[in-house]
Amino acid sequence: MEIQLTVNNKTHTVDVPGETPLLWVLRDELKLVGTKFGCGVGQCGACSVHMDGIITRSCLLPVSIIDKAKITTIEGLSEKNNHPVQLAWREIDVPQCGYCQAGQIMTASAFLAQNQNPSQEEIKEAMHGNICRCATYKRIERAVQTAVEISKKTTK
Ligand code: FES
Ligand code: FES
Repeated sequence: MEIQLTVNNKTHTVDVPGETPLLWVLRDELKLVGTKFGCGVGQCGACSVHMDGIITRSCLLPVSIIDKAKITTIEGLSEKNNHPVQLAWREIDVPQCGYCQAGQIMTASAFLAQNQNPSQEEIKEAMHGNICRCATYKRIERAVQTAVEISKKTTK
C-alpha cells in the first residue's frame, strides 16, 4: 500500500502494509534510526515521537492512520540540535548508554510545549512512563528543569 506521510517537514511516500507500525517505517524505510525499539508494546517510551506536537508511541501506531498529521522525530526536533531540551541534556550530561534518550527528549519537549513552568511533581509525572535501564532519572529531572530555565532566558 502506498502511503504518504510528513516527517520532519518533508513528505515521503512509502510502500508498506498499512498496519506497519510507524516505528519501522521511520527506521527501515526512512532510515531515521534515532527513534528506538524497546518493548514494542507501548510500555517503555523508547519509540516516542511527536504527532502534531503530541507525544506518541510509534511502536503502536499503524502508519495507515497517520493521514495528514505531521510527525517529528529526534532528527527533526531542531535544526542545529539546539532545542532547549537538547541544550539542557548536554549541560547536565544526562545519557549513560543513550538507548532511551531520544524518547526521553521527545517526551520532555512535547511536555514543555504544553507546560512552560512545570513543578517538580509535574515533571516526574510527565516523564514517569519513559523507562531508562541505566536509571538516569535524577539527571533527566534536572535536565527538564534546566530546559525550562534555558527557555525562559531565550524568550526574554
Ligand atoms: S518500543 Fe514503543 S513503548 Fe516501548
Ligand atoms: S541511558 Fe541507558 S537506557 Fe537510558
